[in-house]
Amino acid sequence: MTLPTLLLGQTLHFAADPFAAGPDAARHDSAGGVLIEGGHIKAVGHGADLRAAHPEARVVDHGDALLMAGFVDAHVHYPQTGIIASWGKRLIDWLNSYTFPEEMRFGDPAYAADVAGRYLDLTLAHGTTTVCSYATIHPESVDAFFAAAQARGQRVVAGKTCMDRNAPEGLRDTAQSAYDDSRALLRKWHGVDRLSYAITPRFSPTSTPEQLDALGALWAEHPDCLMQTHLSEQTDEIAWVRSLYPQARDYLDTYEAFGLLGANGLYGHAIHLEPREKDRLREVGAALVHCPTSNTFIGSGLFDMAGLVAAGHRVGLATDTGGGSSFSMLRTMAAAYEVGQLRGTPLHASQLLWLATVGSARALRLDDRIGNLAPGMEADIIALDLSSTPAIAQRSARAQDIWEAVFPTIMMGDDRAIRTTWVSGQRLV
Ligand code: GUN
Ligand code: ZN
Repeated sequence: MTLPTLLLGQTLHFAADPFAAGPDAARHDSAGGVLIEGGHIKAVGHGADLRAAHPEARVVDHGDALLMAGFVDAHVHYPQTGIIASWGKRLIDWLNSYTFPEEMRFGDPAYAADVAGRYLDLTLAHGTTTVCSYATIHPESVDAFFAAAQARGQRVVAGKTCMDRNAPEGLRDTAQSAYDDSRALLRKWHGVDRLSYAITPRFSPTSTPEQLDALGALWAEHPDCLMQTHLSEQTDEIAWVRSLYPQARDYLDTYEAFGLLGANGLYGHAIHLEPREKDRLREVGAALVHCPTSNTFIGSGLFDMAGLVAAGHRVGLATDTGGGSSFSMLRTMAAAYEVGQLRGTPLHASQLLWLATVGSARALRLDDRIGNLAPGMEADIIALDLSSTPAIAQRSARAQDIWEAVFPTIMMGDDRAIRTTWVSGQRLV
């Protein structure tokens, strides 16, 4: 039998949603503890109390570091790791110039395995314990990613990206092969260990109506799977969708018409939405994923976080690596704050941290397992150093409360702020 482990430090968890309940939705203990056993959290409380109640526990003291749930990144493209921070293009040119040539390489299982491992190690070092990733059209790229996550004990979601038009030769499947390959991968990986499969049409410009229809049928056969795609990221893209689908009422309708709108749908970006699209997304309970570093880097626009959350949308937060310019959810929270400021609606630190943990876990329908510190949750935990650089330390030293202490790390922090990452109760970083 494994003995429990007691992590000591400052602790932060959420008892409610800070968008609804304000910053008091978060619970902070400056001398807290998290008891973990067998990969799960057994108790969260005051450190001294837990220590007295569990004298058998192995103690790992994180000092004044802040223990909180590992970050959840709800939309990434792990195959774009090697082309992150590529200069000067907007979405369609960026895909054709940088992304598609790189994604072409993932038919090679050795290359896919190399990048998958590198990507997961980079993100773990940045405190991200769960990601929801697009692979490439190659089934090998899905196998490589799931195998790498499985070896690290991680909970991840991923799927084969499907494209049967408007992509180069060598990076296109067909309606039938997309259905067959997706189904085979789903059967192979979905529900194995901590892995789950997401049906993944890239976006409607790179799929024929026949392919969207086939993937809609697959989703209807496996409604417990997530379905992830892109929606209304750039205005040029929306105009292109209109020309490719002249019968569609709007961009969302290109998915809706083929059974690709639903409660387990994840729609990345969702910046330039029509009123009908917002209404339908909310009615079905779909999730939107905000990717702020990508939206500023590729020049897409300003996501309406305040308006969409107030209207009742479920929203997650994501890097969108490699359209996004960072692997760090800290940097991503900073960009979400800046986008909010540009719209006149700054997000509070409690809301930013909630989005990067509980909010993204909710978007992925995993909030009963990850994204918070609570008994029964999986033990994916990070220890954040709130004074990780001289610049941050001199600011947090004069903090009057936890929010002033943590906000400099949100705005200026990076992987140096991640002292330790625990995955399923194991210390990985
Ligand atoms: N739209 C379709 N594919 C992509 C992609 O890989 N990245 C981004 N940011 N948008 C997309
Ligand atoms: Zn994307």
